[in-house]
This record gives sequence, C-alpha cells and structure tokens, in this order.
Amino acid sequence: MPRAFRNLMVTGGAGFIGVNFIRWLCDRPDFTGHVINVDLLTYAGNPLSLLGVAERFGPRYHFIKADICDALRIAEIIATYEIDAIVHFAAESHVDRSIAAPDAFVRTNILGTYTLLQAAREHADQIQLFHHISTDEVFGSLGKRGAFTEKTPYAPNSPYSASKAASDHLVRAFHETYGLPTTLSNCSNNYGPFQFPEKLIPLMILNAREGKPLPVYGDGLNVRDWLFVADHCSAIWRVMQEAKPGSTYNVGGRNELPNLRVVEKICDLVDQKAPPLADGKPRRSLITFVKDRPGHDRRYAINCAKIERDLGWRPAETWETGFERTVDWYLKNAEWCDQVRSGEYQKWIATHYG
Ligand code: NAD
Ligand code: DAU
Repeated sequence: MPRAFRNLMVTGGAGFIGVNFIRWLCDRPDFTGHVINVDLLTYAGNPLSLLGVAERFGPRYHFIKADICDALRIAEIIATYEIDAIVHFAAESHVDRSIAAPDAFVRTNILGTYTLLQAAREHADQIQLFHHISTDEVFGSLGKRGAFTEKTPYAPNSPYSASKAASDHLVRAFHETYGLPTTLSNCSNNYGPFQFPEKLIPLMILNAREGKPLPVYGDGLNVRDWLFVADHCSAIWRVMQEAKPGSTYNVGGRNELPNLRVVEKICDLVDQKAPPLADGKPRRSLITFVKDRPGHDRRYAINCAKIERDLGWRPAETWETGFERTVDWYLKNAEWCDQVRSGEYQKWIATHYG
C-alpha cells in the first residue's frame, strides 16, 4: 500500500522545485492531506510563484515564513500542525554563490537539515517519513564514460555540493542511529517554470530574448544531465509513497548534453518564438565564452536503473519537448521574470509577510 500523508511539511516550497512540487501535488487525486509550506523567502523563494495555489488547495494549504535553522519554531510547527511527513527542499542551491560566499550554504544546508532531523526525531511518534532532496553533485565529477549509481562514493567539489553531502550523511546517520524513517533522492539538473534566472537555462532564455551576451563558462563542453522539473516531482512522490525507510534513489533524465549544445538549442528556440534581434543576427551570435567556474565539474551522468526497476518511474519529457515547454513558459511569463529580477518581489514580501 502506498503511504498516505495527512499533514505534509514542505520546506523550501517557495523555491523552484518546491513550487513545482506543490503545484503538481494539487492535481494528485491520491493526495488528500494538508500542505504546510515552510520557507524563509530568501532571494530564491518567490511568493509570486505560489499565486493561485492557496485557492486551489483551499483550507488544505498553509504558508509559514520560517527559518529551518530555528529549532523552536520548527518544533512548534511540527506539533501545531500535527506533521506526519516532511519533504525537505529548502537549501541554498546555486553553485556560483557557494563559491563566492559559502557561509549561508553551511548554515542552511547543514545546520538547517540537522535542525529538521532533530525536530523530526523529537516527534518520532507522529513522523512516518522524512524525505530529503539531494543532488547528483555529491558524487563529484565523471570522466568521459560511466554514470553515478547509488553506490558511487561521495566526492563533492564545491562548497554547495559539500554542504549537500554533509546533509545527506546526517540523514543517513539519523536513520541508522535513531531509526528515523528517512528516504533520500539524488537528482540531476532540473529545468522548467519558476526557476530563478541565475541558473543556466532560464538565464540563457532571458538573455537571448533581450539580445544580451550568453556567458558560457570555459570551453562549454561540461556535460550535465537535464530533467524536466515535473518528472522530478513524480519521482519524489513515488519514493515518498513506496520506498523502504533508509533507501536512496538516483533520479535523472538520461539527457546528457554539453552546455554549449544546450545554449545553442535555446538560441534556436528563442529565434523561432520571439521577435528577431535588432541587428537581424541569429541568437547564437550572442554566445560569449567567459572564464571558467573554479572547480567546475566536467561531467555528470545518472544511472537511474534502481528507481526504474523498484518503483517503475520513468520521465515523461525528452529534453527536446521539455526545453520547448520551458522556453514557451519564460516567453509567456515575462512579468514574473521581470519582477523576480527587479527586486520588486522583495517589496511584495515585505508588504505581505512582514
Ligand atoms: P531554490 O534555490 O530555487 O529554492 C530554495 C528555497 O529554499 C527558496 O524558496 C528559499 O527561500 C528556501 N530557503 C533557503 N534558506 C532557507 C531557510 N534557512 N529556511 C527556510 N527556507 C529556506 O532551490 P531549488 O532549485 O528549488 O532546489 C530545491 C532542492 O533541490 C535543494 O535542496 C537542492 O539542493 C535540490 N536540487 C536541486 C536541483 C536543481 O537542478 N535545481 C537538482 C537536484 C537537487
Ligand atoms: O546537478 C544538480 C545541480 O544542478 C543542483 O544540485 C544545483 O542546485 C543546480 O544549481 C544545478 O547546478 P549546476 O551548477 O549544474 O547548474 P547551473 O545552472 O549553475 O550550471 C549548469 C552548467 O552551466 C554548469 O556546467 C555551469 C554552466 N554555466 C552556468 C551559468 C549560470 C555556464 O556556462 N554559464 C552560466 O552563466
């Protein structure tokens, strides 16, 4: 029998994947519980992305502005809302920011995860599952061949991936030592609606739309595996409903592409769908090679045979269909993009949430 959740705490539910997960859950007939969205609303957490969600869920949806590092507040929320499951998205997520300023990554990703685990442990009688969202970056960098499996040793290279690796180890330890019912998924690069335009795909779409330079790091031949965000949501839900406590699953799209290929494809799609550039040149002319990211992992690839075999999960989108849907979304939602980038949403947060 799949697990059923009455009161699901979603941390980081105002960020890219959290928003998509909550929106995706709205349409699931097999979810009839409450969603308690706990998010600090950092620069990456955007309440504009949640417009309409409260209406769709009705009284089954609650938003709480809170810091996952605040132990008292988290314990109070778990007790008050009788939380029986936690899906933990909240994190500092951008590798370049972690290189420039690692502090927030150590605090939120390590201390924040620890705080949630402790709170869950203190409410062991009511918590049936703690699902931790992690990344393929904990495994480090691959050469030309091979793919990460669930057994690949951890070898993180950036402050971001090191902080995520530390959080994964804490999750494992809380299961092994205290018997906390945890599950964990390590996913490849997500893309889709509501992603903050600092990440490669939305940044390139918006710059291409506006005729700005498209900065490609190094030689542009670093490889990432791309997964449409709704496919990540369906994988998470499968794991949450069916996976054995203590288990981990890799999630990927089998869509390995060098960055340059991704950027070229986006240029071509924007050329097809947006008005031409003033100088009449194709968008590929905007590609600009810039200094490489320090410690830039060369290649990621995911072997997701375990989730396919154990849980029957398959992604619905190919990269061609997913990229096209994503370009369409960003071109249609210019207002969201402009507000997110302008800092207007920070004012909105101050007005609505204090
Ligand atoms: P994001 O940066 O878009 O959103 C993070 C959210 O966490 C924001 O809403 C932010 O306000 C919130 N947050 C940050 N610090 C907080 C704190 N102290 N307390 C409460 N909330 C806080 O991130 P994302 O891309 O949606 O990633 C979500 C999770 O998925 C992260 O754990 C990330 O490591 C993981 N992940 C991301 C990807 C990807 O491609 N984006 C791939 C694999 C795994
Ligand atoms: O692999 C999963 C990870 O994917 C997640 O855990 C992270 O939270 C998420 O941010 C993402 O990390 P990446 O570093 O892979 O994503 P990003 O979009 O920053 O970069 C993708 C690739 O594109 C990477 O090789 C760096 C390159 N890049 C990125 C930017 C922003 C560029 O060449 N130019 C750019 O301007």
